Amino acid sequence: MSRRRQIYEGKAKVIFEGPEPGTLVQYFKDDATAFNNRKRGTITGKGVLNNRISEYLMTRIGEIGVPTHFLRRLNMREQLVKEVEIIPVEVVVRNVAAGSFSKRLGISEGTRLPRSIIEYYYKSDELDDPIITEEHITAFAWATPAELDEMVSMSLRINDFLSGLFFGVGIRLVDFKIEFGRYYQEEDVRIVLADEISPDSCRLWDVETDEKLDKDRFRRDLGNVPEAYQEVARRLGILPEGGPTDIKGPKVMQ
Ligand code: TMP
Ligand code: ASP
Repeated sequence: MSRRRQIYEGKAKVIFEGPEPGTLVQYFKDDATAFNNRKRGTITGKGVLNNRISEYLMTRIGEIGVPTHFLRRLNMREQLVKEVEIIPVEVVVRNVAAGSFSKRLGISEGTRLPRSIIEYYYKSDELDDPIITEEHITAFAWATPAELDEMVSMSLRINDFLSGLFFGVGIRLVDFKIEFGRYYQEEDVRIVLADEISPDSCRLWDVETDEKLDKDRFRRDLGNVPEAYQEVARRLGILPEGGPTDIKGPKVMQ
């Protein structure tokens, strides 16, 4: 896989020491888990697609002035990122009811929310990522009130931007999960978007048919899992159809 020193192995990625100080390499695996590792499998080609999709989305997000950890893609499965201190809070932004939200509140999947809703989950596999509030985050100093404000405003900008970007290619951004990190630079610390944004961490539904184009196909045994990830990449214009250099721009839908 790589000669580099491994720092951490997660469920879908391996993190290696980067070539320069202050950098890391994210290696994207084909492994998929759901329900905190109780369901495991492989999605052929997922790592390659998520590497590209996350590169594309992080780059676009960076272009609107939201700082991210992304530096550059290194190869089919690896990308170079800034080393950050991950804040142990998963921020979920929801536009349409689905998944755990529908279950917890008894609101049927597909119901449009009156406005975007932000939720926080504590990053802990042992505890199954429990839902938490701002009170827990600030009381336990997982993030300061100022950092949390920054995370919220970045999350809302990312939601508006990605909702539009996906809508332009016929995809509804139902919800997504993001993570943030502290990037230390000399005297300065700033909050940056970290981890990945991919069909593993988003719910993406076809605007016309509501067909699921994300990891729910794996979680719920809906079949055609690799095809769904490919379809997202294809619509974004980043599926290398004729080889890695054959990249087209986004295909805008009517
Ligand atoms: P949920 O409805 O299961 O809480 O998921 C909300 C969103 O967060 C969905 O787009 C999937 C994503 N997600 C992750 O990326 N990682 C996780 O561990 C969980 C539970 C959800
Ligand atoms: N990624 C989480 C897990 O392992 C949950 C999920 O995405 O459903 O299990």
